[in-house]
Amino acid sequence: MHRPRFFFCGVLCATLTQGAAATEPEVTIVAGGRMATYAPAALLALPAATHVTIPDDVAYKREMSFRAVPVAALFAGVGQDETIRFVANDGFVANLPAAPLLARGAGAVAYLAIEPPDAPWPPLKAGESATAGPFYLVWVRPELGGIRAEQWPYQIARIESVASLIKRYPMLAPASGLSAQDPIRHGFAAYEKNCAVCHTLNLGGDATIGPDLNVPYNPTEYLRVDALRRLIRDPQTLRRWPAAKMPNFPATTLSDRELTDLLAYLRHMADRKVALPPIK
Ligand code: HEC
Repeated sequence: MHRPRFFFCGVLCATLTQGAAATEPEVTIVAGGRMATYAPAALLALPAATHVTIPDDVAYKREMSFRAVPVAALFAGVGQDETIRFVANDGFVANLPAAPLLARGAGAVAYLAIEPPDAPWPPLKAGESATAGPFYLVWVRPELGGIRAEQWPYQIARIESVASLIKRYPMLAPASGLSAQDPIRHGFAAYEKNCAVCHTLNLGGDATIGPDLNVPYNPTEYLRVDALRRLIRDPQTLRRWPAAKMPNFPATTLSDRELTDLLAYLRHMADRKVALPPIK
């Protein structure tokens, strides 16, 4: 897929860069509320800058060498439970859990690869000009961290740390007395990963593509357990219409155990409803 190259930057960023030429590549980094904008040369001059060799690069599908800065060096002080959001210059967004990105040491380690202005990378596709630059997230030893292809965003224009979903939307939280091992907590993790990208619950969440899953009614209040399991696995086997948008969740995405825990979380939240404002 060809993604056009144009510089993505808000008004605030334009003022902060103090008149830098709009065509000069830059990355804006927002970590813990502090914002900074870097040109490639500024990142390459950081003491943490190094060379990495990636035997199986995801964007180029071959061995690549890059000049790069460890992500952990750019996001010092960001919490392990936060999310780091990568925005590409065409607006594509990848929300990645912070913990693996902040790891250092002998396992999988994330680097922000920097395309040197005087030595551009090859195009992603023969015959096209777009490269993976100006900034590209690459991983050393990805196999040791189970790092998937979606975790290699390229053509990055902005990187920001975002507080965890539960910090931003406390109404999603299960009762605080539950142990870390409680199935309800595992169920919340499954909800966060698979469902929060489209649904709110207790009116909390970033996306409103699907209906709220707790107010006015929680699906565990009006669907039998077997019907609800079937709906989540393959919505069209319960109710079928052409414009439906909810995807399937086969066992490869959501194991039987995760589905059981997810239903325990949903049932638990039925007793923790927020007041619903009246319909205007
Ligand atoms: C890509 C967006 C998307 C994702 C991801 C998603 N849903 Fe949905 N969901 C929808 C939409 C949209 C509907 C409304 C029906 C439709 O258009 O398919 C819906 C409907 C539902 C319903 C039926 C509500 C009703 O009473 O009709 C339930 C229950 C539900 N979703 C639960 C879940 C759960 C649990 C997950 C996570 C495992 C999930 N959904 C993930 C978009 C999504």
